[in-house]
Amino acid sequence: MAAMDIKALKQQASEYAADFIRPGMVIGLGTGSTAIFATRRIAQRLSSGDLRDIVAVPTSLATEAAAIELDIPLTTLADHPRVDITIDGADEVDPDFNVIKGGGGAHLREKIVAQVTERLVIVVDESKLSEQLGMNWAVPVEVIPFNRESQAAYLRSLGGAPALRLEGDEPFQTDQGNIILDCDFGSIADPAALDVALNSRAGIVEHGLFIGMARDVVVAGAGGLRHMRKA
Ligand code: A5P
Repeated sequence: MAAMDIKALKQQASEYAADFIRPGMVIGLGTGSTAIFATRRIAQRLSSGDLRDIVAVPTSLATEAAAIELDIPLTTLADHPRVDITIDGADEVDPDFNVIKGGGGAHLREKIVAQVTERLVIVVDESKLSEQLGMNWAVPVEVIPFNRESQAAYLRSLGGAPALRLEGDEPFQTDQGNIILDCDFGSIADPAALDVALNSRAGIVEHGLFIGMARDVVVAGAGGLRHMRKA
């Protein structure tokens, strides 16, 4: 599918989800080329008067900058520890709504916001759907720069093939000043077990597997829009 078509699908899914937001809610603003359409739609709804009394928690420095530019009132988890709804993109989504995130390197803050969110809505174009996580995407693993080789060795011991993410010739830096190892595990038969293994290693700050966190998935495809919800 052409890049322009994919962009239009991302926009469709994301704007649809932005209409789930009601006055008075605390909102998590996702990060990436899909979630930005929800952020813009929220700003439009605020300026038209269709939406009011909301506050938002951004999931990255880039989203924070966009929200400031769009005049969306921001807050922090210190002031609002519970988030009603977060709309965020994903890189791969399985039939159980488990997802891989972190293509933009923002998965740590995204997960911090997701874990205090009542309703995490994942918005994607249909190219992101897969039968099993890992078929199409490596798992981004944020590690501290200190002794990154030992984290790479640990990832290899779990069956993965880690590659340092670069930006130009330099290691990509996250909002926290860490680096990312994109770890190709191939098809992941048991993503929950991999989640536990990755969580139990000092030096791994966070990884892009979001297991059992999403409540809704909105998918835009050539055949139209699908809104799938967990009971
Ligand atoms: C940011 O780090 C990511 O988790 C994004 O939400 C994810 O990579 C999807 O990005 P796009 O919407 O740009 O495809």
